[in-house]
Amino acid sequence: MPEILVNGWVRTRRGSKAFSFIEINDGSCLKNLQVIADADLPGYEEAMARITTGAAVSVQGELVESKGKGQAWEVKASQVTVVGEADASYPLQKKGHSMEFLREIAHLRPRANLFGAVFRVRSRLAYAVHQFYQDRGFVYVHTPLITASDCEGAGELFRVSTLDPLDPPKTEHGQIDYGQDFFARPTYLTVSGQLEAEVFACALGNVYTFGPTFRAENSNTSRHASEFWMIEPEMAFTDLVGNMDLAEAFVKYLIADIREHCADDLEIFGRFVDKGLHDRLAFVLDRPFQRVSYTEAIEVLEASGRTWEHPVAWGDNLQSEHERYLAEEHFKCPVTVYNYPKEIKPFYMRLNDDNKTVTAMDVLVPGIGEIVGGSQREERLDVLEANMERHGLSKEDYGWYLDLRRFGSVPHAGFGLGFERMLMFVTGMANIRDVIPFARTPGSAEF
Ligand code: 4AD
Ligand code: MG
Repeated sequence: MPEILVNGWVRTRRGSKAFSFIEINDGSCLKNLQVIADADLPGYEEAMARITTGAAVSVQGELVESKGKGQAWEVKASQVTVVGEADASYPLQKKGHSMEFLREIAHLRPRANLFGAVFRVRSRLAYAVHQFYQDRGFVYVHTPLITASDCEGAGELFRVSTLDPLDPPKTEHGQIDYGQDFFARPTYLTVSGQLEAEVFACALGNVYTFGPTFRAENSNTSRHASEFWMIEPEMAFTDLVGNMDLAEAFVKYLIADIREHCADDLEIFGRFVDKGLHDRLAFVLDRPFQRVSYTEAIEVLEASGRTWEHPVAWGDNLQSEHERYLAEEHFKCPVTVYNYPKEIKPFYMRLNDDNKTVTAMDVLVPGIGEIVGGSQREERLDVLEANMERHGLSKEDYGWYLDLRRFGSVPHAGFGLGFERMLMFVTGMANIRDVIPFARTPGSAEF
């Protein structure tokens, strides 16, 4: 047998005078590799004293079939080199740590089994996103991160400015003069790449963008992050139904892909994080999503006999408790809710003939609530201009967006899938802070 070289970090070592078992892990998968080091190795005692949990090692040896239980193969070491020591203060000693503690050591938690699994699944999920769209001929568009527009109109923008905060230039009316700022206008980190994706859909047909988005939304929940990743497909010559079909196919594709390619990692989530995970994923794959209009959803909520923390009334936004009731208790499966009241939705959504609702759609899933938000876009210039006026948006600022409706306008539609929320759904991890490498949330931007 030829010798192999394995680099990794020590998970545990147990041994006697005659030999040691060293469990090492290189991050490539959940399973450790067992190394057997015989006491007759050169420098054995000195090396073993330095092989502690967390140390980095380089092992040379023969890969042999294991006679022990728990592994098919093991390495019989001919040489063990300690590359980097870890003393007893290494925080990931073998014992159960709370999620909160692990968040505080976000620079070390990828070395914990559970987080190794989370971030391998995250990587695979990103790959599957591209595969899904590339296989279907969608063009990947890089939309800008710095923008002058507030796509969602919610005013949850992080300002981008290089002005001196202590002594900013002022206009003659005493206001800060952003005309003298870096971009000669007010600019922000983007909340969504949608408006720019629409530009490309109205040229290349089917496109998608996949990148970070930023929201200065002061909601401290387990499902909101201030910096999160979003996948936004946009399709020309497509209506709301085509949009709902794509969202459903996309969510199912991602689940199927992770089940196929990350089976070992899913095991650990099913065992330690969420016992119902495997059944739920199988259930979601097997069934069509329920589709109900917002008006029907309100009727279901009113007929539920529940007392809600936020009362249910036609015209109000669905709150998390309502969304979860629909998906978890009433329909017991993912639900696509469509045709929301125009007053609670952004300016770009297409007005329905009832003049009261717009072609919005949200996909709600059990355990999380909203995972997808999208719509058919208003392609009629006059209606869009009226919407913008109602939302207090200036036609001058959005002249480029209106041009899409002036020249060769087409029905088009798209949505945004929250990448971290999808990751929570496939792993069962309960907090968004634990599926992103370094979470940014109100009051917290360490690392
Ligand atoms: O519903 P949202 O706000 O929709 C848009 O931004 C549209 N412009 C998308 C489009 O039509 N192209 O956000 C889309 C999704 C939500 O359904 C949710 O999954 C996720 O993005 N999301 C968040 N994820 C984590 N933290 C937050 N603060 C999020 N806000 C939205
Ligand atoms: Mg939404």
